[in-house]
Amino acid sequence: MDVKNVRKDFPILSTKRNNKPLVYLDSAATSQKPNQVIDAISTYYKTYNANIHRGLYEISIKATEAYTESKEKVARLINANSYRNIVYCKNTTEAINLVALSWAESNIRENDHILLTKMEHHSNMVPWQLLAKRKKAIIDYVNLIDSSILNIDDYKEKLNLNPKLVSFSHVSNVLGTINNAQEITNLAHKNGAKVLIDAAQSVPHMPVDVKKLDCDFMAFSSHKMLGPSGIGVLYGKEDLLEEMPPIFGGGDMIRSVDFSESTWNELPWKFEAGTSNIEGGIGFGAAIDYLQNIGMSNIHQHEIELTQYALKRMSELGYIKVHGLGIDKSSDNNRSGVISFTMDKAHPHDIASIFDSQGIAIRAGHHCAMPLVNKVIMEPAVARASFYLYNTKEEIDQMINAFEKVKSILKIQL
Ligand code: ALA
Repeated sequence: MDVKNVRKDFPILSTKRNNKPLVYLDSAATSQKPNQVIDAISTYYKTYNANIHRGLYEISIKATEAYTESKEKVARLINANSYRNIVYCKNTTEAINLVALSWAESNIRENDHILLTKMEHHSNMVPWQLLAKRKKAIIDYVNLIDSSILNIDDYKEKLNLNPKLVSFSHVSNVLGTINNAQEITNLAHKNGAKVLIDAAQSVPHMPVDVKKLDCDFMAFSSHKMLGPSGIGVLYGKEDLLEEMPPIFGGGDMIRSVDFSESTWNELPWKFEAGTSNIEGGIGFGAAIDYLQNIGMSNIHQHEIELTQYALKRMSELGYIKVHGLGIDKSSDNNRSGVISFTMDKAHPHDIASIFDSQGIAIRAGHHCAMPLVNKVIMEPAVARASFYLYNTKEEIDQMINAFEKVKSILKIQL
């Protein structure tokens, strides 16, 4: 991977913050966008802006084809059968809510169990809590070992409660842990549970194959993978999507409408009521082209190298506490480019502000995973650096230097 060339495609990376070159280390929150994506959206607006599925004129047909083609690109990226498996939603959160409001609403009954893990993002907890309240269902959570990895023995034990659904994050947005999605899914299926994978932090960063994993549902967002925000994916197996009722009614999702009842459009349009995020789909398609040109394995490998380098340099400082697997326990298979950390006597928000004064963008807070951060990691907040294909070892060196700045500004002796 030629990172220097990659960086040239991202205009924001040559801008300055506080008179210093921007060092963007917050791609787990949202990724930056290459010219190819920006241009695809602007070309649509400038040359073929029209509504889709409605016009019998050239630019509408072109927009419809580009939008559908973007779904075909998503399907190829994750090895789904076809665009019929790809439902566009607003984001990962909406995709999970769609499963909760449609599949789970019809299939979860009183006293049924839903199995989650203690490392979930709020988006994979709150929809199930709402459902559990409506249905009087029960949510269980798989424990972690060393506040870092899933306890598979605890998982196997909780499978004995016969959950109807197992839902888990493929990669934790706080710990960077890569869960063994294959093993978790196989065990769930052996036990008769359906499986939903929150892949918001995995599909953008590594090869993911829904056929190999055999998951029933998967959710992820375009904005974390170089594409525009406001568009995300629910992948579902076709038989499940076929039997699921739509949750939004309106134009485009129907086959026929009468005064008393209606019938539904074919997959995936049955779930997409109203005018779609057309420019979002077109930009998303360009983002997938960009990622696939570089190759998901190459991107993953680059991020592993950055992560191992950052973990090593942070451990050399001697005063940074990394949450999640440290340099001694991390490997290519279990650790992605998300590093949460704390530092004695420095609040994570102060660290983030001082980093910002050095042009370095990181995130600090509970990272939409309050139960994990507050009750498992036992911190009020953590700081987090996260990497993507455009980051470099030099940027990590700049982050390491910024820790000394934190110490001197806050007058901390460590
Ligand atoms: N879920 C995103 C993050 O982890 C917003 O920052």
